[in-house]
Formats: sequence, C-alpha cells, structure tokens
Amino acid sequence: MSKSTTQASEHEETRNLTFPVRRGHLGPAVLDINKLYSEHGLFTYDPGFVATASCESAITYIDGEKGILLYRGYPIEQLAEKSTFLEVAYLLLYGELPLKHELERFLDAIRHHTLINESLLRFFNGFHHDAHPMAMLTGVVGSLSAFYPDAMEARDRSQQELFAQRIIAKMPTIAAAAYKHSVGHPFVYPRNELDYANNLLYMLFALPTADYVANPVAAQALDLLFVLHADHEQNASTSTVRLAGSSGTNPYAAITAGIGCLWGPAHGGANEAVINMLTEIADIKNIPRYVARAKDKNDTFRLMGFGHRVYKNYDPRAKIIRSMTYKVLENLGHRSDPLLDLAMKLEEIALKDEYFIERKLYPNVDFYSGIIYRALGIPTSMFTVMFAIARSVGWVAHWQEMVNDPEQRLGRPRQLYMGPLQRDYLQMSQRAGKVGSGI
Ligand code: SDX
Repeated sequence: MSKSTTQASEHEETRNLTFPVRRGHLGPAVLDINKLYSEHGLFTYDPGFVATASCESAITYIDGEKGILLYRGYPIEQLAEKSTFLEVAYLLLYGELPLKHELERFLDAIRHHTLINESLLRFFNGFHHDAHPMAMLTGVVGSLSAFYPDAMEARDRSQQELFAQRIIAKMPTIAAAAYKHSVGHPFVYPRNELDYANNLLYMLFALPTADYVANPVAAQALDLLFVLHADHEQNASTSTVRLAGSSGTNPYAAITAGIGCLWGPAHGGANEAVINMLTEIADIKNIPRYVARAKDKNDTFRLMGFGHRVYKNYDPRAKIIRSMTYKVLENLGHRSDPLLDLAMKLEEIALKDEYFIERKLYPNVDFYSGIIYRALGIPTSMFTVMFAIARSVGWVAHWQEMVNDPEQRLGRPRQLYMGPLQRDYLQMSQRAGKVGSGI
C-alpha cells in the first residue's frame, strides 16, 4: 500500500502525520484517516463534506470536471439512448445488465407489487387537499414499514430483494394517489398490462368516466427522465439514506429520510424552484435584473437549476434533457413553452457572465426537467415527487450496498466544539440576565 505524508500545521506546533492512501478504480485517491483520532487525537474538519469520501461504492461514478456519469460503468448517454428505467434499475441493483429472462422476471416482480394496502389509501383522507405532495409521500412511504414488519430483517438478502421490488413498484402508486387526492379525483389502480411509465401516467390522469391511453411520446420522455434521475453517487439524499440505514433501522424508514432530504430546494426541490423562478422572471427583459441578484452577496436569490457541488462542467443529464425538450414539446403538440424560451435565454446570458464562468456554474439536471414535466401535464408541486420515484432506485441500491458492506458501521460524525467551557449551575437569583445565544 503506497504511503504519503501530509502537513497538518497548527499555531502551537507542526506535525508530520502519515496516512495510508487508498486508490479506487476511477477518480481521486483517498487518505485513510480512520486512525487519526485514536492515534493523534485529531478530527478532520469538512463542513458539507466537500472533500470527504464517506464510503466505498461500486454503483455510480461521476467526474465533475469532465461531466462524466457512469452507472455501473455504463455512460449515462448510452443508457439514455438504449435502455429503459427498469432495466437501469436492475443494473444499479444487481451490478450487471440483465439477461432476457432476468429482466422479464424482474419486470414481473415489479408488476405484481404495484398495489398498496387499502388502509394506506385511507391515509390520504387525513391530508387537506392542498397538502404538498412531498409531505404526503413522506407520510405514506414512512408508514409502509407498519405493513411490512419482515423488512426489519435488513441483512436478509431475500428481504432486501423484496423491499427493493416493493419500493420501486409502489412509489408511482403512492405518488399518483397523492396527486389524485390534491385534485379531488378518485384514486386509479395500477394496471398489469402497462409498463412502468405508462402505468404512472394512467394512474395520474385516467378518470372513471372514459378510457385513457397515455401519449407514447409522454411515456418515453418520462421513462428517460427516470433513467437520468435514478442515481448520482453520494448526493445529499443518498447519503441521508445511508446514514439513517447505518443505525439498522428498517429500509422504509431510511428511504423516508432520503425523501425528506431530497425535498430541499438546494437538492431535488430545485426542479420545482426553477419553474417558480422562471415564472417570477416572466420576461426576457427581466433576466439581467435576476442575474444581478444571483451575483449579489447581499441577496439570498440564486439561479435555481444552476451550479453543482460536483459538476464543474455541464451536467451531462442536463444536456440530454435540454436536447429532448423541443422534441417532446413538438410531439405533444405544444408550439413551445414560453418558460423554455426564457430558460434558454437565461442559460445563454449566465454562461457568458464572468461570475458564472469563474465559479464554473452550469445548468444542472433540474434546470430543464420541469419544462418537460409541465408539457406532460404534471403540476409543479409534483416535480420533486417524480424525482423521488426515480431516485428510490439509487437509494435502495446504496442502502443494500451499505448494509452488506463488512466495513459498514454506525455513521456518527464528530465536531469542532465552539461552545462555553464547563461551568456550574446558577440558581435563579444568581442569573444576571445573561443574554443566551437563543435559537
Ligand atoms: C441536485 O449532489 C448531487 O448529485 C445532487 C443532484 C443529484 O442528482 O442528486 O445532482 C441533484 O440537487 C442538483 C442541484 C440542484 N440545486 C440547485 O439547482 C440549487 C441552486 N444551486 C446552488 O444552491 C448550488 O449550486 C448547489 C447547492 C447546487 C451547490 O452548492 P455548493 O457546492 O455548496 O457551492 P457553493 O454554494 O459554495 O457555491 C460556490 C460559489 C458561491 O459563490 P462565492 O461564495 O464563491 O462567491 O458559487 C455561487 C455561490 O454563491 N453559487 C451560485 C449558485 N450556485 C453557487 N450563485 C448563484 N446562483 C447559483 N445557483
């Protein structure tokens, strides 16, 4: 094992510390600092985990500088062109593209787990009609563990496979039920003869008053969006699922933690925030004012759908979505979408601006995806739910990798303590109105 030294300079002293270096198959090597505290009494400090590898993984590789994304070694561009969401799900879960009979068995298993317990449908009546669909998704997915106590055996491989099939199969059913509740329409049950994307569109938009067949272009676009959103290495929500799962909790609870994290506008909630931002900008003539606001440190406004912790190049997924947007709009009979024209102009202006160039801020996966969801008739409040449906595959794959990793331990980071030194309790009469730090 090659070794390297690193300099940890301190005010009091300088120490030469030596750490083993571990190299992966691709990407930066890592300093193994596992013994740093026990041997040197030191922690590392890395808020936001900008330079911290939290685990070993063989699922997805990202090269942020080159804009490369591989699922189990396969480039996202090839999977987007040649594969389907459930075949990609199999690849992410099992590590290899399936043989014909393996895929058929997997599709059949998913098809026969799409129903949810009737009691779960009654949960939706507890929500007001204007409850955010992500709140409903969080509540109902979190309740799945009450119906599957067998999932508590997290290390049982057959239970892991059953959990994967149930979550992948039931997310669309729960998502569609949340939408139906929000619009006051009757729930629509899944159909075994429909594929994954067509089944979701059917559950979203069918009504008991007439037959419904989804537009094939819409189904194809949805399946492609799911391929692009299926996994993304140790992103915030996946890391949340891993951390929650590391306590040995049931996998439904771990996935629910991931849903909560994904909801944030800095993460999966950005697709909804992009449309809200474009709607607020409203006209091309307003773009310079909003770009100026995005650059103003005294203004909390950011260009939603721009920038990425890892990609310092164009997000390869955004490139694919951008190129498909016009085709989807045209094939769905939309002349265009004024928000798409606005988004294209905003991208053009931002990418010529020194602020964005210097910080390597490019459109990410969320910048254009909402334009397509709108064209499919999906309301803005459902955009992050759609992201969660796709990302549930990555969450499950990483959860399984984590629970089956012999090196896996309870995740428990430490801190740099900046609070008061030890002090004695003060009786009420002794408290001289010290102003506390407050919340
Ligand atoms: C996803 O991790 C993943 O893989 C996530 C994801 C996945 O598939 O799981 O790819 C999905 O979450 C995509 C990201 C969606 N979020 C957004 O679009 C929200 C807008 N983007 C930003 O909030 C931001 O870019 C982040 C949160 C995505 C990344 O933030 P970082 O890595 O913490 O970077 P930073 O905040 O330190 O920014 C570096 C600089 C700062 O300026 P300076 O302090 O150097 O002067 O860039 C600026 C930031 O102010 N900046 C932006 C900006 N994003 C960063 N300025 C204006 N608009 C922006 N969007």
